[in-house]
Amino acid sequence: MCGIVAAVTERNITDFLLESIKRLEYRGYDSSGLAIINQKKNIIRIRCIGKVNELSKKVKQKKIFGKIGIAHTRWATHGKVSEENAHPHISSNIVIVHNGIIENSLKLRSFLEKKGYIFHSDTDTEVIAHLLHWEQTKTGKSLIEVIQNSKNRLHGSYSMVIMDAYNSSKLIAVRSGSPLVIGLGQKENFIASDQIALLNITKRLIYLKEGDIAIIHSKNIKIFNKHGFIKKRKEIISNVKYKTIGKGKYKYYMEKEIYEQPSSIRHALHHRIKKDKINFSELGYRAKKIFLNIEHIQIVACGTSYHAAMVSKHWFESLASIPCDVEVASEFSSRKLAVRKKSFFITLSQSGETADTLEALRISKKLGYLGNLTICNMKGSSLVQESDFYLLTKAGIEIGVASTKSFTTQLTVLLMLVAKITKLKQKKSNIEKKIANILTTLPFRIEEILKKNNIIKTISHQLCNKNNILFLGRGDQYPIAMEGALKLKEISYIHAEAYPSGELKHGPLALIDKNIPVIITAPKNSLLEKTKKNIKEISARGGIIYVFSDQEIDLEENMTVIKIPYVEEIIAPILYIIPLQLLAYYIGLRKGKNIDQPRNLAKSVTVE
Ligand code: AGP
Repeated sequence: MCGIVAAVTERNITDFLLESIKRLEYRGYDSSGLAIINQKKNIIRIRCIGKVNELSKKVKQKKIFGKIGIAHTRWATHGKVSEENAHPHISSNIVIVHNGIIENSLKLRSFLEKKGYIFHSDTDTEVIAHLLHWEQTKTGKSLIEVIQNSKNRLHGSYSMVIMDAYNSSKLIAVRSGSPLVIGLGQKENFIASDQIALLNITKRLIYLKEGDIAIIHSKNIKIFNKHGFIKKRKEIISNVKYKTIGKGKYKYYMEKEIYEQPSSIRHALHHRIKKDKINFSELGYRAKKIFLNIEHIQIVACGTSYHAAMVSKHWFESLASIPCDVEVASEFSSRKLAVRKKSFFITLSQSGETADTLEALRISKKLGYLGNLTICNMKGSSLVQESDFYLLTKAGIEIGVASTKSFTTQLTVLLMLVAKITKLKQKKSNIEKKIANILTTLPFRIEEILKKNNIIKTISHQLCNKNNILFLGRGDQYPIAMEGALKLKEISYIHAEAYPSGELKHGPLALIDKNIPVIITAPKNSLLEKTKKNIKEISARGGIIYVFSDQEIDLEENMTVIKIPYVEEIIAPILYIIPLQLLAYYIGLRKGKNIDQPRNLAKSVTVE
């Protein structure tokens, strides 16, 4: 969501800040800004709405110089999109950028107004700046003490980086609610909300833990934990290759990420499948003990991750015979919950920072689940840090706002997990061997489907001027219809809805006429005959039908059948989403939309 980059160095830092903040553009934003403290100890701040390129132009015109600085991309939550609301915010000597929401900001604002502070923006961030300044002036304490003392007064999430013009040799970073990662350099140190911003300069990283406060000088850093004690945090060397972050030969990140799926899945399988066996030793013995006791599974997630969870419900119930419930995270957190006996809690998330999912995890911890596990793509993320167990999807950094490779890798990891739990609970089952063998063929199967791109381009031409498109699926294909519809909405802004095929006659059939295309995924399984009946119902009402199937659909109806190579029923959901991702991509492309940064959306939604 919001992006933060800051640096304290021995050289002019302006260009670094501009380049790095640009690398965070993918997270979604509406305005940006930068501040440095120059040699005369003056704060120079430049902000603007729109793209980071606009900010760069403005900064370059001013030729500013400073060895310490902070930059920010904003995704509006408190107050409209305007230059005044863009970060950094200033209160006299205090300069601050912030990611999160201060829930009691109105109360604090009126308190500070009574103390004589004049607000220049509508943001909750300016409230923090004035609060820190007020505390500092009142108590005469050091900025770090002031921050530690003010934490109790701030309700909400406030990952932030602060500079003090009276003491311009250090940055102070606070992790609360969303990640901050320190980059270690030679006589210079950095901090950012995402390692992508730092990788061109250093691979030596330290992820702050929730509640940490770091004092960052150019030559040293000191970290206090949430209780105020000095802590050493582990330094890691990032294994993300800076080169792989580019678009390569592709026009958009989404296209690149769709085509990367075979290799992402290979990474997800690597070291985990060995000779017919699924190896999840990374989870440890304690997880094994808990898995043996599981009688129910509750999965919570949002968006695309929610759709992956819905597919896995079919697997948990049909293979492991474990009842499984799946719920959208924001709903899970909005009601009184009754927890089943011996229930295990799972979250799914690409980013590991989705506020709704994090809130659900925090609630679940008070409810007596056997334990919790997150399946996540981001190692240092809040969900990974706060969960009892985690499995990384290893999809590689996903930059397109529309999730693609994170979905198929989530499904891959989920299927391995289902097989593992099934084998633990049903000793004689051959499911582990069966799934291990099928999954090793998965990357090749996806490569085959990706070769169908020309047929899909042709269909995208037929569909790109439609206003409404219906997606249908049965059983484990229903979540695939939902995911296909979500992709299309995000990328093309065409209204798309997904229905379980059998539900059509209970209402949506009224929509069908010659203007509404209906897209159906129908692999060979026990449900195919029923789906054929639905096809007839649509055809009788003049609907335009597109069917993705590995079977000849022996019907007289007027429809387009797109042949998908045969796959085993169990992995069909992972395969059938691929053409729908391509379809959304090509339609968005034809419509000239901003594929990687659809309007109003952010890659990671860190507000509830
Ligand atoms: C998918 O294309 C979307 N960008 C969105 O629905 C996303 O899946 C959702 O916000 C959840 O994100 P997460 O997986 O990072 O938790």
